[in-house]
Amino acid sequence: MTAHARRDGDGISRRNFARLLAAGGSAALLGKTGFAFERPAPLPQTPTSPDEAFWRSVREQFPMPMNVSVMNAANLCPSSLPALEAMYENTKDVDGNPSFQNRAKMGEGKVNTRKILADYLHTTPEQIVITRNTSEGNNFVSSGVELTANDEVIIFNHNHPSNNVAWKEKAKRYGFTVTELEVVNPHPGPDYYIDLVRRSITARTKLLSFTHQTNTVGDLFPAKELCQLAHEHGVLVLVDGAQSFGLMDVNLSDMQPDFYTGSAHKWPCGPKETGVLFINNRAHDKIWPSIHSAGRGDVGISRTFESLGQRDEPAIIAFGEALKFQQQIGMKTIQARSQELAQSLMEQLKTIEGVTLTTSQDPTLSQAVVVFEASGIDARKLYNALYDNEKIGTAGRANGLRISPHFYNLHSEIDRTVAAIKHYMTTGV
Ligand SMILES: Cc1ncc(COP(=O)(O)O)c(C=O)c1O
Repeated sequence: MTAHARRDGDGISRRNFARLLAAGGSAALLGKTGFAFERPAPLPQTPTSPDEAFWRSVREQFPMPMNVSVMNAANLCPSSLPALEAMYENTKDVDGNPSFQNRAKMGEGKVNTRKILADYLHTTPEQIVITRNTSEGNNFVSSGVELTANDEVIIFNHNHPSNNVAWKEKAKRYGFTVTELEVVNPHPGPDYYIDLVRRSITARTKLLSFTHQTNTVGDLFPAKELCQLAHEHGVLVLVDGAQSFGLMDVNLSDMQPDFYTGSAHKWPCGPKETGVLFINNRAHDKIWPSIHSAGRGDVGISRTFESLGQRDEPAIIAFGEALKFQQQIGMKTIQARSQELAQSLMEQLKTIEGVTLTTSQDPTLSQAVVVFEASGIDARKLYNALYDNEKIGTAGRANGLRISPHFYNLHSEIDRTVAAIKHYMTTGV
């Protein structure tokens, strides 16, 4: 059976699964009890100008079959096969022998993942906490920074609830003020937000919190400039990186936030319920841990912040493998590819009658989250028809859709999606 055979079908059928079991060895990632995914041909070295054939070989490294086009990376990505294999093999190992002695090596895996995370984010391991997701990281910050009735926090209305509602709820308890700034559509440009924040900071402002790329409309925020501005006023900054971590070549040494958060299951294509919280050395004494339990990290801030009870160590190891897989391709290459797909999507969508782009097409203002409104059609029915009839996975919006392609998607999927939307917009659903 070839690597393509499985992808013509609907995932792995029972018959193919049995064949894989029978094949064993080199053809499949099969342990004794069977890791039921085929081992694709090794990923070639990333060419200087990657073509569609290269990206097809990247797609082979994901279990998502070719007739399923999920373009919802802003919500959940498929795990890459190297991550899945690490998850499977280590879980099998732990559950086959859960003794302290056998699990000791998992600690080294966690140390290793922290090093990979630091390298990936262009920072150092003593500033890295391996969390469970962005929500947890954001809440560690809003619960951990000491704020009193005299203090103010500035947030944006497009922040995710874990970085918006969380602040408002904690303000009720601790008495600090939350000032909510408005995101403007169409994207008014980076200078608008730099100026807005400059005008909004007061003597009481203790913290600024914004989203690097918004999940709502895909707006890019000028992260480095906002961090710089806040620091000039002695204000701490939380950058929610749920929509940039794993998509962009994020350089925290350059951006210099006090806190940066992300999830493995989104753009990094890693396991569920693993994530990262970066705490700048400069802010280590400005935040309290929210959870105290047994176990702790090996270095720096992880010694106090990573005491989170029993962890899913195989998932943490798989997190590292997911990042290594992306590094093998190159983060700059991945960032460019995702944006290229998003740009093609927007270019084609705007030719469809009734479609209005909400996301800016300016490549300095958006990355790979595309939102549009569709008039003259029930957006919910469009969302359902795309999945039910075409196996195209998107996210529903009040009057339209959000489509977030990533490096495992192909131009043929973008074209297929546009053709399907055009068809339903013309004929109705
Ligand atoms: C900007 C942003 N922040 C935080 C989150 C929460 O992420 P998680 O569910 O992984 O905690 C999301 C999820 O979509 C998000 O888009």
